[in-house]
Amino acid sequence: MDNKAYALKMQGITKRFPGTLANDHITIECEHGKVLGLLGENGAGKTTLMNILYGLFRPDEGQIFIDGEEVEIQSPSDAINHGIGMVHQHFKLVDTLTVIENVVLGLPTMKQVLDLAPAKEKLLKLCHEYELFVDPDAEVWRLPVGQQQWVEILKALYRDCKVLVLDEPTAVLTPSESNNLCRAISKITAQGKSVIFISHKLREVMEITDNVTVLRDGKVIGTIATKDATQLKLAEMMVGRAVEIERRPRAKVPADSEPVLVMKDVNVYDERGVHALKNFNLTVHAGEIVGVAGIDGNGQRELAECISGLIKPQSGTIEIKGKPVTGVISDPSFLGFIPEDRHKTGLVLDFTVAENLIIKEYMKAPFAKKGILQYKEIGSHANEMIDKFHVKTSSKDVAVKTLSGGNQQKVVIARELNPEPILDIASQPTRGLDLGAVMGVHDVLMQERERGAAVLFISAELQEVMALSDRIIVLYSGENMGDLDGDTADQAVIGQMMLGKRI
Ligand SMILES: Nc1ncnc2c1ncn2[C@@H]1O[C@H](COP(=O)(O)OP(=O)(O)OP(=O)(O)O)[C@@H](O)[C@H]1O
Ligand SMILES: [Mg+2]
Repeated sequence: MDNKAYALKMQGITKRFPGTLANDHITIECEHGKVLGLLGENGAGKTTLMNILYGLFRPDEGQIFIDGEEVEIQSPSDAINHGIGMVHQHFKLVDTLTVIENVVLGLPTMKQVLDLAPAKEKLLKLCHEYELFVDPDAEVWRLPVGQQQWVEILKALYRDCKVLVLDEPTAVLTPSESNNLCRAISKITAQGKSVIFISHKLREVMEITDNVTVLRDGKVIGTIATKDATQLKLAEMMVGRAVEIERRPRAKVPADSEPVLVMKDVNVYDERGVHALKNFNLTVHAGEIVGVAGIDGNGQRELAECISGLIKPQSGTIEIKGKPVTGVISDPSFLGFIPEDRHKTGLVLDFTVAENLIIKEYMKAPFAKKGILQYKEIGSHANEMIDKFHVKTSSKDVAVKTLSGGNQQKVVIARELNPEPILDIASQPTRGLDLGAVMGVHDVLMQERERGAAVLFISAELQEVMALSDRIIVLYSGENMGDLDGDTADQAVIGQMMLGKRI
């Protein structure tokens, strides 16, 4: 096919960062009205390539063609003018502005227009057309993340993009939101627009895409028509061997094992006044992994946050090893907390990898002596953690924001599980991780259990909860719907409980 057949072609794109060859002569092609999946392990170079397309980085080599014409993209406004729209892996909305303000932000006409009514009308039309509903007047921070994503997509459509890039859009979506997104994507492609879809969820890639390009270490491993692919084949292309999330051996928790976390009749109302946890009871023992299944947004965040003391329940008691939780737990030997939103609560983006690895303990020996930071100790600790958790970074001394999304997550995990806490709360710890890294996190949580830690594992991926948990509880609308044995739990039954059915 000649270049004209493609809505977008990126050819021979190379991008070097100090110490990293992020993109090594990458060529991708996306046809009109088609969805191209972009797959690859954490750090493979997907986001970098898309940032080049969007004018955020300049490539060292390579060309970009849109509808067969070579274009120069020096800035996001160039990209937008060429019809490129992008929903970033980490959203870039302004939280304190309303939806419609975010949508018109940066438009050339905005300076003169103070009357937002016509813009609102246009936005509402798009909402209906793509069935992505949001209230134009809502402040963005009040919206659930799923709807924040609709805003990002609508913003691109408002600018009449021809190629829409979605960088891990479903990592933060509930299953029903993912379905809405799929429906919107087929409407977008039906109009002849093209979509580039990045995801680590192979099932979705199989469902949504027409073609898939797989990257590894900055290089194209291959491009395949989705109809000729299988999940296993894609995993093999990504990792270099066939891998699947596998069921792990269960622990036999002795009957007299010590209860580590005990929650009794806990009630939590969230900042919007919604009853987020209802008369919630739960006990987790030393040496077991308790999985929390449930569709995202059913109280998972509040559960994790009230155990770690970040929010205070309105009633009920929470005890860790017999001690009531009364405020934020800052003792790292007590609690390891892998938070859901690693950007807001997990990392200081401008600090180095090494610094982020000791943030909780930086005033303690061996990292500080008499108030002076011991950089040698900090450095060797960092190298040890980078090794142990396979963090892909050019050095321990680069700002953590230069790591790929998945590798930032590994830094949080490494820090939280060191030094060995008695209770681990892992809240969506594998979100955004590639398959190999997902299994790495599973290994780590299993090791934590072997060591005798109590592990609370919260995940919206049912397959994962079933693979790892000794015991499973189901969270629905803030209620604990029941306790199931990890060995005998049935996927269909859990699925029903996740939708609110009591068994
Ligand atoms: N601004 C930067 N400075 C230095 N290195 C960078 C920068 N941005 C990205 N990198 C490096 O480039 C490589 C590719 O990163 P990229 O974010 O493109 O990966 P990715 O495929 O999107 O991974 P993930 O699935 O984890 O999001 C990584 O090794 C990363 O550390
Ligand atoms: Mg990325």
